[in-house]
Amino acid sequence: MRLYVNIDHIATVRQARRTDEPDPVRAAVLAELGGAHGITIHLREDRRHIQDRDVRLLMETARTGVNFELAASSGILDLACELRPLQVTLVPEKREEVTTEGGLDLRSEENREALALALRRLKGEGVRTSLFVDPDPEALEYSVELGADAVEFHTGEYANARGDERGRELGRLADLAKKGRAMGLAVHAGHGLTFENVIPVAAVREIEELNIGHSIISRAFFVGLERAVREMGDLIRQAPQMVDRPGAWLPPMGF
Ligand code: PXP
Repeated sequence: MRLYVNIDHIATVRQARRTDEPDPVRAAVLAELGGAHGITIHLREDRRHIQDRDVRLLMETARTGVNFELAASSGILDLACELRPLQVTLVPEKREEVTTEGGLDLRSEENREALALALRRLKGEGVRTSLFVDPDPEALEYSVELGADAVEFHTGEYANARGDERGRELGRLADLAKKGRAMGLAVHAGHGLTFENVIPVAAVREIEELNIGHSIISRAFFVGLERAVREMGDLIRQAPQMVDRPGAWLPPMGF
């Protein structure tokens, strides 16, 4: 089981001020030090969080694999073909959505045509390909037909379900993961996975990769906030002694 850490939210915080911190590329280094097997980023058409610069720098600096999420119809495909990350996950994208709301609509012939084209180009560049789909059997059939290497099951329904319903959603994921493997697809999963709900999904043997962002970044605020406040407090307390030593103004950055 591989853990890919989605660092989009680091970029969301940066873009809130359009400044240069926090830098998602530096966050990727920490995620790798923490044991991430790879880094996931989604370059959206509206560039609301990750920027082109982040993708280019990450491709130079990542020591693990980069999983580049993008919409097949976007011009971003050109960038993916130029940079050739380890993996591209094709996702649906709507401007008005807060996050990716569901899997790809593979029933639409127009979508399938765009995906087939994107998959052919990416394969030509030697990039591993994955389709973000809702966990249903038809999605598996279409994914095989389109020639994708992997599917990533959208786990949002599982994450939102409660009680017996959650058990049923887990059963569905596990059955379809088995089916997907038998059809020759690698099976990944992600969206809405948290410290509270990840274990049953991570225990499904046929799922080999999880993409997790929101919950890890949310926890990072809490496990890191105390130290950040203490360091700022130290600087303020020591200000009278430090004001004439600008070289000592930055807190130790840790890496
Ligand atoms: N997988 C895909 C395809 C996604 O679009 C996202 C969200 O950007 C994730 C996984 C991670 O979801 P979450 O942030 O809820 O962990």
